[in-house]
Amino acid sequence: MMRWPPCSRTLLGVCTLLSLALLGHILLHDLEVVPRELRGFSQDEIHQACQPGASSPECRGSPRAAPTQCDLPPNSRFDCAPDKGITQQQCEARGCCYVPAEWPPDAQMGQPWCFFPTSYPSYRLENLTSTETGYTATLTRAVPTFFPKDIMILKLDVLMETESRLHFTIKDPANRRYEVPLETPRVSSQAPFTLYSVEFSEEPFGVVVRRKLDGRVLLNTTVAPLFFADQFLQLSTSLPSHYITGLAEHLGSLMLSTNWTKITLWNRDIAPEPNVNLYGSHPFYLVLEDGGLAHGVFLLNSNAMDVVLQPSPALSWRSTGGILDVYIFLGPEPKSVVQQYLDVVGYPFMPPYWGLGFHLCRWGYSTSAITRQVVENMTRAYFPLDVQWNDLDYMDARRDFTFNKDHFGDFPAMVQELHQGGRRYIMIVDPAISSSGPAGTYRPYDEGLRRGVFITNETGQPLIGQVWPGLTAFPDFTNPEALDWWQDMVTEFHAQVPFDGMWIDMNEPSNFVRGSVDGCPDNSLENPPYLPGVVGGTLRAATICASSHQFLSTHYDLHNLYGLTEALASHRALVKARGTRPFVISRSTFAGHGRYSGHWTGDVWSNWEQLSYSVPETLLFNLLGVPLVGADICGFLGNTSEELCVRWTQLGAFYPFMRNHNALISQEPYRFSETAQQAMRKAFTLRYVLLPYLYTLFHGAHVRGETVARPLFLEFPEDPSTWTVDRQLLWGEALLITPVLEAEKVEVTGYFPQGTWYDLQTVPMEAFGSLPPPAPLTSVIHSKGQWVTLSAPLDTINVHLRAGHIIPMQGPALTTTESRKQPMALAVALTASGEAQGELFWDDGESLGVLDGGDYTQLIFLAKNNTFVNKLVHMSSEGASLQLRNVTVLGVATAPQQVLCNSVPVSNFTFNPDTETLAIPVSLTMGEQFVINWS
Ligand SMILES: *[C@@H]1O[C@H](CO)[C@@H](O)[C@H](O)[C@H]1NC(C)=O
Ligand SMILES: *[C@@H]1O[C@H](CO)[C@@H](O)[C@H](O)[C@H]1NC(C)=O
Ligand SMILES: *[C@@H]1O[C@H](CO)[C@@H](O)[C@H](O)[C@H]1NC(C)=O
Ligand SMILES: *[C@@H]1O[C@H](CO)[C@@H](O)[C@H](O)[C@H]1NC(C)=O
Ligand SMILES: *[C@@H]1O[C@H](CO)[C@@H](O)[C@H](O)[C@H]1NC(C)=O
Ligand SMILES: *[C@@H]1O[C@H](CO)[C@@H](O)[C@H](O)[C@H]1NC(C)=O
Repeated sequence: MMRWPPCSRTLLGVCTLLSLALLGHILLHDLEVVPRELRGFSQDEIHQACQPGASSPECRGSPRAAPTQCDLPPNSRFDCAPDKGITQQQCEARGCCYVPAEWPPDAQMGQPWCFFPTSYPSYRLENLTSTETGYTATLTRAVPTFFPKDIMILKLDVLMETESRLHFTIKDPANRRYEVPLETPRVSSQAPFTLYSVEFSEEPFGVVVRRKLDGRVLLNTTVAPLFFADQFLQLSTSLPSHYITGLAEHLGSLMLSTNWTKITLWNRDIAPEPNVNLYGSHPFYLVLEDGGLAHGVFLLNSNAMDVVLQPSPALSWRSTGGILDVYIFLGPEPKSVVQQYLDVVGYPFMPPYWGLGFHLCRWGYSTSAITRQVVENMTRAYFPLDVQWNDLDYMDARRDFTFNKDHFGDFPAMVQELHQGGRRYIMIVDPAISSSGPAGTYRPYDEGLRRGVFITNETGQPLIGQVWPGLTAFPDFTNPEALDWWQDMVTEFHAQVPFDGMWIDMNEPSNFVRGSVDGCPDNSLENPPYLPGVVGGTLRAATICASSHQFLSTHYDLHNLYGLTEALASHRALVKARGTRPFVISRSTFAGHGRYSGHWTGDVWSNWEQLSYSVPETLLFNLLGVPLVGADICGFLGNTSEELCVRWTQLGAFYPFMRNHNALISQEPYRFSETAQQAMRKAFTLRYVLLPYLYTLFHGAHVRGETVARPLFLEFPEDPSTWTVDRQLLWGEALLITPVLEAEKVEVTGYFPQGTWYDLQTVPMEAFGSLPPPAPLTSVIHSKGQWVTLSAPLDTINVHLRAGHIIPMQGPALTTTESRKQPMALAVALTASGEAQGELFWDDGESLGVLDGGDYTQLIFLAKNNTFVNKLVHMSSEGASLQLRNVTVLGVATAPQQVLCNSVPVSNFTFNPDTETLAIPVSLTMGEQFVINWS
């Protein structure tokens, strides 16, 4: 869905939706205030800063004596003018050092000209005391900083919560400040053993955290002064390496640059591009240390913030409110860091099985008849389709919980027909509620008003903004009454139209006017003394007033939680309305989002650059516990090309969430040439064949905090060559996907960590009856840890199966309703020593509470010494009846003379000596214990 208003920001006086679709990102940039340049400063600013009577600290009284300890290496200088450009005189008045330096011409930022001397006053640690859980101490500041309202006395609490988790908070002991209302684990006693030690620096105050194993300093907050003013909190730390990832949501490579980078977290509706604040905020980072160990840090704070990375290397959190609530995760493997982070913010929800099928949407399916045609055309062209979607088109006057009686008159019947065909249906729902109709004409607004669920303005009335339906009010999902109201609206609409999931968009929340139609008050929340690097140069850009009121606090504090709280409300409402597993996809996110919903990466352009960015974006959200993620296949904005759309469909087949969606332009698979369609069909078949494996990975994410799509470094942290790989992805431990991300390429180079990798397309999938015969492209790769160039004609995406792993597969079909009834097959990829293992999780695919109720099947597969067996961990009738028809063993060096299945000779096995592949037809059920051996 397009995120800018049709007419409020016209560039050429043009006011059509289509031209805006094309000009969208240009418009945003040309017409918003350019983000503040920190290095430069205007003459006005200088004059204003120290006019007679000016009250800012640097203008009061006599300047401090020019500091003496300015001889710091440029990379270790911490900015003493984060808030604005200042002159040498103003800098020195702050008690800081001033040394001008050249910045590279296109740099976003560089070494600060004005920086803290080592003697700059910070807090002092006093009265450090041991507690049940760790330590407590008082921090005192003798000299105020240049920010208003320093909190001069602070309380530090250090909680040694688990062996691998350290937690500390810094708060104002005298006044309760806003804290993020995220449920986090509470621990009442100190862990008996820890992987870390904690030390304190008294003056200046600092916390040092070391990894006991090697003494490495993971965190040292002594490197720069601590700030804790009412609206400016800064905590800096050294980093033990330059390899840092996380800090979403941003567009770019998986590893961040420590070469002077600023990441801004303030959820914002904007077509994704590098170096801007995007839809979500995840103040969590993961650092890879020399040798392949890893640690993570989470700042549980939802206020607008910047995170600055500099080359020493070091990181500074700069938040505009709340408290400092810091978690440190010791790993030591990167996988454990992710798990430990998710122990705090929550494990991902288990999606319904159908949610992993193919989703198709477009803005512009203007009638139910056209929507039906799409489904028919997909089927006629033999493309799978599990979930049909509609964008705004279905609504009456673009209002939530309504449908257009002219164009979608038979909407309920359309959805029922989809169900009869084994398909599901999802429609867009925006949070903003139309407020302009006469009272009594639009129940969501009337009820919302009556129940007091809307965010209010300075005068205590619903704040009115403007979104798709025109004037709108914004529900406050931090209000329990709003959760119930939302649930009622969802349930009532579901009673009319039996939809299956919700697509929650525009939930940053997006607003076409700045703040509100009545503007915003002039106060310190609207104009904070430190403004993070937000696009538009004001917190209210493309959203509502920061100072508006919500149930739990001001929007200033809660803005970044808007999408998360709407996701929670929608998840809960769907449980009530449908009684089965909810499916929610949200644009805006915050830490912990994966508990309730997935994410799509928003309004991406149809170009090759965005295609390649979607790989790191998918990997990043998996590290953040939001595994159900994907970009709009073929791109959303602008016009795709056939080649781009084929390559995007191939990669999209490996997004955990697979949806093709566009604004107004037709890019359904069946629109393209037969050659392109054939290539796409192959990718779809791979996806559907691999769904049992994908579903099993989601189960691992749900119960163990694992990732689904994962970066190579997660599996191979000891190999530094994997650390920066972000043009390939793994599915779980077993599959390595190497997509083509550039135009006109029929080869692709990918990194293959040490080990044996089997081309998945050598697995004879014609056993399933629908895939074209395998065309082995590359023979088995025996890698020493190296880059390998692979053949990748237009109809091919390279997928390799890692030796040592067994994956379950299933015959494809045009829906998961059908594919779930197909027989299964197993691919067994042996290591050089002849071993492999794998897992299958299976249940009815949509019920709630299957784990508690025991209504699921879990199997482990083991191969070793020419023998393959299954172990029944847990069994239900559903899984017991699954048919197993084929076992393919890869890496069988010598031709077997005999194959036995449960001691009975199998006569029709085949062996291909070139690919070392043994294919064993069997007739088993997954629920029976079996032993297959070959000799
Ligand atoms: C530290 O403890 C001493 C003795 O209880 C007390 O007098 C002093 O005020 C405390 N200092 C702070 C900063 O709380
Ligand atoms: C922490 O940083 C401070 C300031 O740079 C430095 O003096 C100190 O040695 C560091 N501590 C450790 C343990 O590295
Ligand atoms: C950091 O930026 C500077 C200036 O652009 C450049 O010379 C240097 O090579 C960069 N370093 C890294 C590691 O990218
Ligand atoms: C479906 O296919 C028919 C026949 O090719 C075509 O006329 C129609 O425009 C298609 N409809 C949609 C919505 O793609
Ligand atoms: C608050 O919103 C109401 C509409 O709900 C509007 O009439 C009023 O002027 C607004 N107050 C301020 C101070 O903007
Ligand atoms: C491997 O299998 C063979 C034949 O089934 C058996 O004789 C041998 O003991 C097995 N070896 C191991 C290590 O299990």
